[in-house]
Amino acid sequence: MTFEIQHTDPNSNARAGKITTDHGVIETPIFMPVGTVASVKAVHFHELKEDIKAQIILGNTYHLYLRPGIDTLERAGGLHKFNGWDKPILTDSGGYQVFSLSGNRKLKEEGATFRSHIDGSKHLFTPENVVDIQRIIGADIIMAFDECTPGTADFAYAKKSMELTHRWLERGLNRFDQTEPKYGYSQTYFPIVQGCVYPELRRQSAEFIASQHREGYAIGGLAVGEPTEIMYEMIEVVNEILPKDKPRYLMGVGTPQNILEAIERGVDMFDCVMPTRNGRNGMLFTSQGIMNMKNEKWKNDFSPLDEFGTSYVDKAYSKAYLRHLFISKEYLALQIASIHNLAFYLWLVGEARSHIQAGDFSSWKRGMVEQLGRRL
Ligand code: GUN
Repeated sequence: MTFEIQHTDPNSNARAGKITTDHGVIETPIFMPVGTVASVKAVHFHELKEDIKAQIILGNTYHLYLRPGIDTLERAGGLHKFNGWDKPILTDSGGYQVFSLSGNRKLKEEGATFRSHIDGSKHLFTPENVVDIQRIIGADIIMAFDECTPGTADFAYAKKSMELTHRWLERGLNRFDQTEPKYGYSQTYFPIVQGCVYPELRRQSAEFIASQHREGYAIGGLAVGEPTEIMYEMIEVVNEILPKDKPRYLMGVGTPQNILEAIERGVDMFDCVMPTRNGRNGMLFTSQGIMNMKNEKWKNDFSPLDEFGTSYVDKAYSKAYLRHLFISKEYLALQIASIHNLAFYLWLVGEARSHIQAGDFSSWKRGMVEQLGRRL
């Protein structure tokens, strides 16, 4: 994998770049649709590629390991062959999913034991076997096994948790460096910065992570219960230290406004379930603000779903029709909303990129953030 910075914004830390993987090029800043179980919920890959213009999608080690299981993925020849997505894939390590199972998991030095949310069976993830599993899944970018420290953790817990993540990182990197990709294309391993809401821990973690000299770095443990302003401050602290010539991935973030603020602070890659999950609940993000499609207000509004939208669904369907589909609990509602929201997120990061290239990112961003917050 290589990363090339093509433009930097004169008034902020925003940058436009190009990541090249064996499955193709990713233009940054980029949003990665979440495909937890080898599928981006309710969206065909044809739409993802041709209409939404996704360049990379995400998979989840935890979910793929439990179902379909690594035996099936290995027999298929890896996830790209299994699901037919031939562009880049990034897999999260399971650190976040295991953390979300709070009642059902136990952390120890060796790794994390957890019970499957599907059948209650017991499993162990270690920094080493999570590398092995991600080798079999065959993602282009694989993630370190970490503890995603809750945003509400006290300093002592956050420090202990960060130190465990660092020890796990060294073990994971050892395994990664001693093993080979299984399917003939290269894989790269991103370490993850933790440190909760404490600037000195974030600094320490960023320095440790940067000293591993890898091809890209992730910032974890944000948007997990801390105030938004603190999240922005932590991104600033970390990006002061992470090398400027490597891609930076902010994990699990966020709203369209969060993404623009993070781009301004030097982040290149994003993922979040928000466009798909909120979309399935009837919430549409647009450049003019947010719409709740279940609202009575749209009952007889036959205007296009989003007159400024870039997806075919934006012109093909009206607000009144989508509201009707949601009220009638039709599957098509989930499809239309997911396609619209993902196309909007990809449009937003593409616009950010164009404005970085044009040199007017900051002023464009200020206006856009204001518009995005409106309720339509
Ligand atoms: N997704 C969102 N936040 C995190 C994190 O801190 N770690 C991992 N592994 N995944 C995440």
